[in-house]
Amino acid sequence: MQKIRKAIFPVAGLGTRFLPATKASPKEMMAVVDKPLVQYAVEEAIAAGVEEIYFVTSNAKRAIEDHFDKNYELEAKLEEKGKKRILSQVRNLVPSHVSIAYVRQHEALGLGHAVLCAKQLIGDEPFAILLADDLIDGGDQPCLKQMVDVYKQTGAGILAVQQVERSQTDQYGIVDVDSTHQIQKIVEKPKPEQAPSNLGVVGRYILPSKIFELLEKTQSGSGGEIQLTDAIAELIKTDPVIAHPFTGVRYDCGSKLGFLKANLEYGIKHPEFGDEWLAYLKARLCG
Ligand code: G1P
Repeated sequence: MQKIRKAIFPVAGLGTRFLPATKASPKEMMAVVDKPLVQYAVEEAIAAGVEEIYFVTSNAKRAIEDHFDKNYELEAKLEEKGKKRILSQVRNLVPSHVSIAYVRQHEALGLGHAVLCAKQLIGDEPFAILLADDLIDGGDQPCLKQMVDVYKQTGAGILAVQQVERSQTDQYGIVDVDSTHQIQKIVEKPKPEQAPSNLGVVGRYILPSKIFELLEKTQSGSGGEIQLTDAIAELIKTDPVIAHPFTGVRYDCGSKLGFLKANLEYGIKHPEFGDEWLAYLKARLCG
């Protein structure tokens, strides 16, 4: 069985749900406490064994490239001031065995199209996809690591899923599964009355490279975009794809409320000032 070594990070989306904050800054660069969303997702991928990271980006997302690049001026200043701890954090965002490359999506034609832009970089091996605006706190078992473990047992495609509110099925890819969690049906953003279940796909996927030939044939679907979900609907006709109800908490950081919740919770867990933050919250709520 081939190892999951490569991951695609589609980051070319416009972030319209988070305007005006995302007018000039990528939504993936918004910080939860002190790290941008994209860094949490990159760390999750690395913890799952990923060694090659491919961002599918656009002209408005240069800050992401800068974040993972070396910043000589900043490093020199931190060195001069003796700020060793923060210097080491800035320097070692990714370990040396991990490589990062970028490919441009020239038109915003949808998630499926974004994934297709990385076809040549993935080649003929199974790979992961991570949507950084879904921040998932899996504790000591990060979500993608859990999925890689299921992949190792089954060799199947794996999608992370969770129960969503019936009224919100039109915000997700919705799956119908059999008793072994194998996906029997998948629909992009169905209306509540048409949804096959309330099991929604969140932004973590492990897929075989066959998905690329299916994406090439995929016509525009929901929202007039080329949808990854529609290519997966074709894939399940021939290949097993399993829905993994992951352990952990997912924050929809593409939404303002989800982002606030993430900041509150990650603030409480922060090693430096978590206790002080919690004390503040308690005083604020009781006072
Ligand atoms: C995308 C996918 C959708 C999935 C969701 C998870 O939608 O198209 O199937 O459920 O991510 O966050 P988006 O949120 O980009 O509209």
